[in-house]
Amino acid sequence: MVDTVSISTTSLLTQIQELAEQLAPRLVEIRRHIHAHPELSGQEYQTAAYVAGVLSSCGLHVEEAVGKTGVVGELQGQGRDRRVLAIRTDMDALPIQERTTLDFASRTPGVMHACGHDVHSTIGLGTAMVLAQVRDILPGNIRFLFQPAEEIAQGAGWMVQDGVMRDVSHVLGLHVFPSIPVGSIGVRYGALTAAADDLELFIQGESGHGARPHQAIDAIWIAAQVITTLQQAISRTQNPLRPIVLTIGEINGGRAPNVIADQVRLSGTVRSLHPETHENLPDWIDKIVKSVCQTYGAKYEMNYNRRVPSVQNDPALTKLVEEAATEAWGKDKVQLLPEPSLGAEDFSLYLEQAPGTMFRLGVGQPGHLNHPLHHPEFDIDESAIVTGVVTLAHTALKYWQEG
Ligand code: NI
Repeated sequence: MVDTVSISTTSLLTQIQELAEQLAPRLVEIRRHIHAHPELSGQEYQTAAYVAGVLSSCGLHVEEAVGKTGVVGELQGQGRDRRVLAIRTDMDALPIQERTTLDFASRTPGVMHACGHDVHSTIGLGTAMVLAQVRDILPGNIRFLFQPAEEIAQGAGWMVQDGVMRDVSHVLGLHVFPSIPVGSIGVRYGALTAAADDLELFIQGESGHGARPHQAIDAIWIAAQVITTLQQAISRTQNPLRPIVLTIGEINGGRAPNVIADQVRLSGTVRSLHPETHENLPDWIDKIVKSVCQTYGAKYEMNYNRRVPSVQNDPALTKLVEEAATEAWGKDKVQLLPEPSLGAEDFSLYLEQAPGTMFRLGVGQPGHLNHPLHHPEFDIDESAIVTGVVTLAHTALKYWQEG
């Protein structure tokens, strides 16, 4: 067996690169199997059973039905170090009809792995396979989290509730990204994704004849004032360096062209990056809605649901990923992402329990039209699987070596 003291990071890196290359055909097979059999959020029964089977065959301690349909695989180290490093991947697909012409395209009508979670699951399994081969030199445990229901931003919460973060000192995650070329990764210090909250408003006016507005309270007009005031108030009362996006995506109300509407329901999503801004959003929105409604005599009800906070990457762990990827692939393959995204990721719920980082894995083919995530023709360059596995495995090994 290899001796921890005598082995250098460089020879270990070569070893895991070779292991990952040997595993590549098997990993492509796994990815295609998962891709062909996608399951919606919270219904990942077959995927979970498949993942659990592969983890067990690598000798990991496996727990199923964690966080409803999630799977946890624990790779036991020597136990000298009590820290546990968690590696999180997600397993769910989207309600999209696949339009690719791939041999392994979805066999389930209306359901597709259009966000690359098939690739994430495969990379999680590949990393477990590689690290299982060098388990004798791991001082502590590595916990592989295969999470359900990321697309509805619920799975991470279910997993955390079931205790998967117990004893976890740090957590790593990744997401495929079609605008980064295959072979490269993107890291970002600080905010990676936005906080996403749900907003629902009921505006209650008073019905009346369409010809006599002065005898009614027009809920549609007041709803329009509320929307306009909120959008303008973002620009005039909020720090422009701390962005907010408020999108009302649904509006319902009214019964007939000549009847003034007495009730309107609005619902939308609210995105923000700065934790302080996020904290103050419900009160700020409530104040504006209240003042508009009071001015025109309407009543209102507001439901504000904080869905997920912003992913704030830990500087030390981000640096470790950056160094690991630079050693593995060279400096020109590691992009420092200049901007965060206003998309959301429930990975942030793990970060409320322990520091960690999420990086972006390039899957785009240079010179090709690379469809965006959630597109019915979304596809990846499968050589990204090895890039993901080696980057995660090498980061994990450096984590233990550098303390
Ligand atoms: Ni995704």
